[in-house]
Amino acid sequence: MAAFTVSHSFFFLLLLSASAFADTGMIGINYGRIANNLPTPDKVVALLKSHGVDRIKLYDTDSTVLTALANSNISVVVALPNELLSSAAGDQSFADNWVQANISKYYPSTKIEAIAVGNEVFVDPNNTTKFLVPAMKNLYNSLKKNQLDSSIKISSPIALSALQNSYPSSSGSFKTELIEPVIKPMLDFLRQTGSYLMVNAYPFFAYTANTDVISLDYALFKENSGNVDSGNGLKYTNLFDAQIDAVFAAMSALNFNDVKMVITETGWPSAGDEKEVGAGEDNAAAYNGNLVRRVLSGSGGTPLRPKDPLNVYLFALFNENQKPGPTSERNYGLFYPNEQKVYVVPLTQAEVENEKTTPVNGSKSQAPAPSSDENDVSKAKVGQTWCVANGKAGDEKLQKAIDYACGEGGADCRPIQDGSTCYDPNTLEAHASYAFNSYYQKNSRKTGSCDFGGAAYVVTQSPRYGNCEFPTGY
Ligand SMILES: *[C@@H]1O[C@H](CO)[C@@H](O)[C@H](O)[C@H]1NC(C)=O
Ligand SMILES: *[C@@H]1O[C@H](CO)[C@@H](O)[C@H](O)[C@H]1NC(C)=O
Ligand SMILES: *[C@@H]1O[C@H](CO)[C@@H](O)[C@H](O)[C@H]1NC(C)=O
Ligand SMILES: *[C@@H]1O[C@H](CO)[C@@H](O)[C@H](O)[C@H]1NC(C)=O
Ligand SMILES: *[C@@H]1O[C@H](CO)[C@@H](O)[C@H](O)[C@H]1NC(C)=O
Repeated sequence: MAAFTVSHSFFFLLLLSASAFADTGMIGINYGRIANNLPTPDKVVALLKSHGVDRIKLYDTDSTVLTALANSNISVVVALPNELLSSAAGDQSFADNWVQANISKYYPSTKIEAIAVGNEVFVDPNNTTKFLVPAMKNLYNSLKKNQLDSSIKISSPIALSALQNSYPSSSGSFKTELIEPVIKPMLDFLRQTGSYLMVNAYPFFAYTANTDVISLDYALFKENSGNVDSGNGLKYTNLFDAQIDAVFAAMSALNFNDVKMVITETGWPSAGDEKEVGAGEDNAAAYNGNLVRRVLSGSGGTPLRPKDPLNVYLFALFNENQKPGPTSERNYGLFYPNEQKVYVVPLTQAEVENEKTTPVNGSKSQAPAPSSDENDVSKAKVGQTWCVANGKAGDEKLQKAIDYACGEGGADCRPIQDGSTCYDPNTLEAHASYAFNSYYQKNSRKTGSCDFGGAAYVVTQSPRYGNCEFPTGY
């Protein structure tokens, strides 16, 4: 704390470090096709382009789809279905032929960036787990023979059910029986090949099964009081971050801190059965919209890995009418088969930026929806919430967040300069609180504007730091 002084070079430093939070993540969409009423792949590619979507993920290597995507400049994750795992594992020539027929044939005109080898393999009723890593290795060898190993990554999406513990996040661990047979060999392979772990994460499932203990606002990235992880003191303001960090903690426990992650599926259903509490259009719009805002606003990664940008594939592009299971399964789509949006949701950085300058006119979900909780702070009278720093976030994180808020973020930080009204108390927490609050108020107290990767939270009482007055609105 003593080292922190505001000098004349303050603003110079701000300008230099304003890029600390500038790395935004990426949004893609899963193009599932378990339906009999979807537009042709050509039309789908046009739809993606018209909405500025530049990354998709497939569940196979369908030739009409891969051909339609040629020269579109849309990045594609393809998949080797679980049914082919045993063949790909047992026979290098099968893998070679598959890569030849399904990858090399289309690349590079179709911008294939990764192969998802199987999907949620550990919960495949056909017991294909033992084939997974051998299949990944054979496919990698096949890519290598074609000099594609540095352009195309090999990974495999795991479900959150691979975790033994996920709460609190810091206690995250993989299921014991998976660790030696598959988790460690797979993470070793990902590390050696410069690839990343693929994770499918659905806060909806956790919420709908535990509505008594998980608040809807927490699940939907809305304003809420958050949860402090009792293991490491980090504050979580949404369930998504908490789920992702449980996986990071599980990786960390096995000393795989250096392996990155991509969220290959997440979403929220716009309709569900009566007992699927939380399913619905407004909630789906809030979840997906707030997630996209979170990922594309450059507010950093999760509390455990604040510098890793979040790369996320939403599930899914369309409602899929032939999916079995509860009603929700057929209602994860962002679009109806007729190409209309199911609800309004931003999909690009331009749309996210645009929202900030476009006044909300009451139309559904154009902006973060207000809280659903009667007691929630966002229901307080306009102007009656403030943003303050989380003292537990750590100096480095606070400093980076101040730099961002005062620099690129456009907060008014003159009052915390040496000699100004809010310089005292001269502590990082007090200065961060002033800067965060200014940023928050300037952004109209929008959901997500008081987060800073968990370094900030909303309060309903005027913050007290010396004689400093905290503005309530602009
Ligand atoms: C293709 O997409 C990349 C980003 O993925 C972008 O940088 C590049 O400009 C695009 N190229 C064309 C021709 O649109
Ligand atoms: C992809 O590979 C599989 C397995 O070798 C093959 O049956 C299939 O025809 C290939 N797909 C295409 C589009 O060539
Ligand atoms: C399980 O394996 C059998 C035989 O290979 C196959 O017919 C069936 O489709 C597989 N089921 C799943 C869920 O993959
Ligand atoms: C799955 O594999 C385990 C062990 O390899 C075996 O005990 C079990 O019977 C298998 N289950 C099925 C459905 O094949
Ligand atoms: C909000 O704006 C949209 C798009 O301009 C418009 O279609 C809608 O009618 C407006 N809603 C209200 C309540 O004014």
